[in-house]
Amino acid sequence: MPATIKDIMQTSEKTQMDRTLSKEVILKVNNLEIFYGEKRAVNGISLDINKNAVTALIGPSGCGKSTFLRSINRMNDLIPGARAEGQILYEDVDILSKDINVVALRKEIGMVFQKPNPFPKSIYNNITHALKFDGTTKKNVLDDIVEESLTKAALWDEVKDRLGKSALSLSGGQQQRLCIARAIAMKPTVMLLDEPSSALDPISNAKIEELIMDLKNDYSIIIVTHNMQQASRISDKTAFFLNGDLVEFDVTDKIFTNPSVKKTEEYISGRFG
Ligand SMILES: Nc1ncnc2c1ncn2[C@@H]1O[C@H](COP(=O)(O)OP(=O)(O)O)[C@@H](O)[C@H]1O
Ligand SMILES: [Mg+2]
Repeated sequence: MPATIKDIMQTSEKTQMDRTLSKEVILKVNNLEIFYGEKRAVNGISLDINKNAVTALIGPSGCGKSTFLRSINRMNDLIPGARAEGQILYEDVDILSKDINVVALRKEIGMVFQKPNPFPKSIYNNITHALKFDGTTKKNVLDDIVEESLTKAALWDEVKDRLGKSALSLSGGQQQRLCIARAIAMKPTVMLLDEPSSALDPISNAKIEELIMDLKNDYSIIIVTHNMQQASRISDKTAFFLNGDLVEFDVTDKIFTNPSVKKTEEYISGRFG
């Protein structure tokens, strides 16, 4: 039986989170089209991403969520044949422009993937690897960043006594929080999360959800999720994608209680997807 909208809205007390939206916009997407070869995967979408908010991207598999997310820090550049048209403005700079320094861009706009992908190095070195590469070498500075990032990622207490141990000795949920800490260490402003807890057990999932709600105080977060309860629990705004189109984009409560488009209602009530 398809879930009703009421089922979907059934959430923990964490939903009582502050949903006052800052009016500030951090990213402005204008008529963005993304192609793989001849095939268009994102069909000219426009939307504004609020600062210090959680924006959820929902929609059935293959509708273009990951493609859109990867365009925001130019990860699609790594896919042969992928190209984007339109604009993504970040502080009035078009991220899609040819002369963007993508390495610098990816520090500002960090990304965490579905499958935790820590380096086969110690917990400590996972955090410091890119920093050292960037020229931060003072041990006390690195120590501070390691503690701060792991604390923000709600992992410090669990690992502070074994920072020299391999990251691969951590549980899946801990590995994912380590990947979030690794992104935080670069001091990003935007964090892109592509189904970050879908490969994890329910307890780890709950931890990641809490973490995301805390992180929005410092970062602007865009999260792809196929889990509508998750979107309704943790996001301020929700974008519903279908076949490369942005069907509806609004505050999360509106999308889940009173969507404007029939297709949105059909999707969130489980009639397809
Ligand atoms: N690397 C790729 N090469 C070619 N086509 C791709 C690639 N990645 C995704 N696509 C296609 O683009 C469309 C959108 O995919 P994707 O963004 O992964 O969707 P979602 O994340 O919503 O499941 C799909 O039709 C998919 O097959
Ligand atoms: Mg995807």
